[in-house]
Amino acid sequence: MNATPPLTEQEIALLVDSFYAKVRVDPEIGPVFNDAVKNWDAHLALLKDFWSTVLLTTGRYKGNPLLAHFRLPIEERYFARWLTLFRETADEVVSAPHAEVVAQKANLIAMNMKRVLLSQSNAQRDRTLLPTGPKLSEKHQPKERNL
Ligand code: HEM
Repeated sequence: MNATPPLTEQEIALLVDSFYAKVRVDPEIGPVFNDAVKNWDAHLALLKDFWSTVLLTTGRYKGNPLLAHFRLPIEERYFARWLTLFRETADEVVSAPHAEVVAQKANLIAMNMKRVLLSQSNAQRDRTLLPTGPKLSEKHQPKERNL
């Protein structure tokens, strides 16, 4: 049998390092990252945890990627560029079957992110991400009646 060996943490680390090396110098999306990321070592470590969680289900990443992007000046066209650079990097640094898998995951996450960040109304967005409003049971208390 010619089974592909599983992706390793080392490959994920290489993928993340190589991808952000491209991102940082990219004329289109580089400025968004360079303005927002204050500590690149911490960002790269976080993103390695994220991809390890997505690809190897290690559960090391505990954050909320959607929330992290709301305050960023992200335009729809940036997603295409992000995905192109990500696929290009994956093709360069991991085997073809792994590149396929990681690119598919990235596409799915990016599609969802794009939908929530750019297409939904603020109200919908708040419901999706910030479940801090009144509980349903509180919202639907019957109004006081003046009998
Ligand atoms: C339009 C394309 C994108 C841009 C411009 C972008 C930009 C950024 C920036 C600037 C940060 C750092 C925020 C900070 O340190 O304050 C960040 C964090 C992050 N991004 Fe993106 N991003 C994009 C798409 C994606 C996609 C498609 C994914 C996943 C497949 C992703 C996953 C993450 C994760 C996991 C974090 C860390 C969130 C946390 O703080 O927990 N991003 N992104």
